[in-house]
Amino acid sequence: SNTLKDAYNGKFYIGTALNLNQIWERNEKAKEVIETHFNSIVAENCMKSENLQPREGEFNFTDADKFVEYGEKHGMHIIGHTLIWHSQAPTWFFKDANGNDVSREVLIERMRKHIHTVVGRYKGRIRGWDVVNEAILDNGEWRKSKFYQIVGEDFIKLAFQFAHEADPNTELYYNDYSTAIPAKREGIYKMVKQVIDSGVKVHGIGMQEHNGLDHPSIEETENSILRFSSLGVKVMVTEMEISVLPNGRPNMGAEISDRVAYRKELNPYVDGLPDEKMKELGARYKEFFSLYLKHQDKIDRVTLWGVGDGDSWKNGFPVPGRTDYPLLFDREYKVKPFVQDLIELGRKK
Ligand code: G3I
Repeated sequence: SNTLKDAYNGKFYIGTALNLNQIWERNEKAKEVIETHFNSIVAENCMKSENLQPREGEFNFTDADKFVEYGEKHGMHIIGHTLIWHSQAPTWFFKDANGNDVSREVLIERMRKHIHTVVGRYKGRIRGWDVVNEAILDNGEWRKSKFYQIVGEDFIKLAFQFAHEADPNTELYYNDYSTAIPAKREGIYKMVKQVIDSGVKVHGIGMQEHNGLDHPSIEETENSILRFSSLGVKVMVTEMEISVLPNGRPNMGAEISDRVAYRKELNPYVDGLPDEKMKELGARYKEFFSLYLKHQDKIDRVTLWGVGDGDSWKNGFPVPGRTDYPLLFDREYKVKPFVQDLIELGRKK
């Protein structure tokens, strides 16, 4: 049939992030699109540690359970996101009763308990987990997160070990953004190699692909696909969208009037996306999908970070209150014209 998942069947899975609040629960139009075009889902927010374990030992699985049940009901590959991430981790995770940083031993124990509880709960039901998210900086160095500061480099290896213990049959991924930046690519390569060389299994590297119309280049993206897969791991596109908006941030030191003008400059398509921009967006999506098809032997899954434009985090980043058009479906969940080209591209190759 004329759907994305059928066109790419046998090449790679087509996934989407689901955001409980915004999309699928009470939105029939969104549901229809999700069930028609996608065969994989990932939790946009409901499996992050601050949501799953807001206070020590108090787990809340209400939303995550619904997410997993939904995927199972529709026979989808379900991806868990994310076990160890410096962001969206509850502050208690790193602190003792006096508000001081916990010891290495305590933090490792908290990691173990969190990972065992979460991965264990869904044992056998999740295709793969983003075990560690965003541990390397754009310059290739380690992010100096609390995990890094308190545990040291080993926190990565330990996280993968704990996840493997909790569900030996689930796949385990390292996931990061801006992976086409050469220095970052090498940093990730080195870090994952270190884990693999220590005898701990890593099944895949996720390239988030929060892209724009002019970045990153197809060439550097291809270099990263090749470099990562040379480690013998699967490569996956995990959080793709293509923002059509300029990538600037407001200079908060500027005069108010300048800031207001700049804000408008950063939000040029409030009344709709001009046709030529839609064409540019479609052409850009085609370039990336052609690249993924070229490397279909290495790429396991291509996941979009949301269904309809209205649900995208990009409307709020890097400045709030923008109107972006980064996804495959519009704010009414109508399919964008270029998606048919993506379907035909998938069918051909
Ligand atoms: O649900 C609450 C709502 O009740 C509350 O009123 C509101 C006030 O701020 O916040 C709502 O939660 C927000 C949540 O998104 C749901 O919309 C959080 O504040 C906000 O921080 C959260 O942002 C998410 C962000 O990660 C941080 O967790 C984005 O939706 C999500 O798209 C984004 O996804 C990340 C990936 O996990 C990792 N890679 C980068 C990617 C983009 O930043």
